[in-house]
Amino acid sequence: MPATDVVRAAALLRAGELVAFPTETVYGLGADAANPDAIAKIFAAKGRPADHPLIVHLADANHLARWAVDIPESAHKLAAAFWPGPLTLILKRHPAVSDAITGGQDTVGLRVPNHPLALQLLREFGGATGGGLAAPSANRFGRISPTTAAHVREELGTAVALVLDGGPCAVGIESTILDLSGAAPRILRPGMLDAAAIGRVLGAAPVFGGTADAPRVSGSLEAHYAPRTRLQLVAAADLAVTAAQAIDTGLRIAVLAAQPLSLAHPGIAWRLASVDPTQFAHELYASLRDLDALGRDLILVAAPPDAEAWRAVGDRLHRAAAGSN
Ligand code: TXA
Ligand code: MG
Repeated sequence: MPATDVVRAAALLRAGELVAFPTETVYGLGADAANPDAIAKIFAAKGRPADHPLIVHLADANHLARWAVDIPESAHKLAAAFWPGPLTLILKRHPAVSDAITGGQDTVGLRVPNHPLALQLLREFGGATGGGLAAPSANRFGRISPTTAAHVREELGTAVALVLDGGPCAVGIESTILDLSGAAPRILRPGMLDAAAIGRVLGAAPVFGGTADAPRVSGSLEAHYAPRTRLQLVAAADLAVTAAQAIDTGLRIAVLAAQPLSLAHPGIAWRLASVDPTQFAHELYASLRDLDALGRDLILVAAPPDAEAWRAVGDRLHRAAAGSN
């Protein structure tokens, strides 16, 4: 990517336009986090409810105090250990942070993404002053997050002034969201940076999930990350029987599973998944997009193992199943 594209992207962002950019997790749809008119364009382009808060992306942790107050020591430790990287920290917001970012809540989500192009852009845009880019995943609301520049164009078309192409995202699913604004660290959205790694830095493992007073996370809505085709999660041991039954009832199906089905049938489009959770996550959204594009009646996915290493992937698959019709 020529440096001039980054310079042009930063100029567009300063002028209040939207620019999509790669991160190590998924592509983000960026706007100047200090410009409420630009932020409004994000909600319009995504079709997202305006009270859903956005993550602010920063070039480094040096200007955290511009965005957050009462920053606990744990935040500095985690930033030192994992930034740039796939971890979003929820902290008490600085009063100057726009309600358009926080959805009116008293917290703000912050992260430093680990992708060379994102970091170049963030430095060019706000490096010296600590300016940030508000960036949700660059998909339409409720749909599969994009992991290539082509996915972004498919999702958002001309609603975005420029898409920086940084190739396929390495991690492939969204960052781990850790809430440090409450009494105890709490994971609001699991990601490939897992609780054990966070626990090693904090000295104690974080807890999972929100409570009634936890900040809203749209990634925690049941119906999310969904393909258009109905998607069903099936225990791996039941997959062959479920597939055969679907075929018998005349359905044309697509299957994503790590073990090949012993059933060969022209009504089945087949996609082999990885047995490694890191690789599975890396491929997941592109695989779901490909299977969705086949226009079959049903996508069957073999449920991953019920193990900690698969938690984040399992979370996205459960939501994809819940969000499909
Ligand atoms: O990996 C990622 O985090 C990607 C890349 C682009 O950085 N971004 C991403 O953004 O997934 P988005 O908007 O699709 O999901 C961010 C989630 C949302 O569910 C939002 O509700 C939550 O973060 N969030 C943002 N600020 C929050 C806050 N102050 N409190 C609780 N949740 C927050
Ligand atoms: Mg999203």
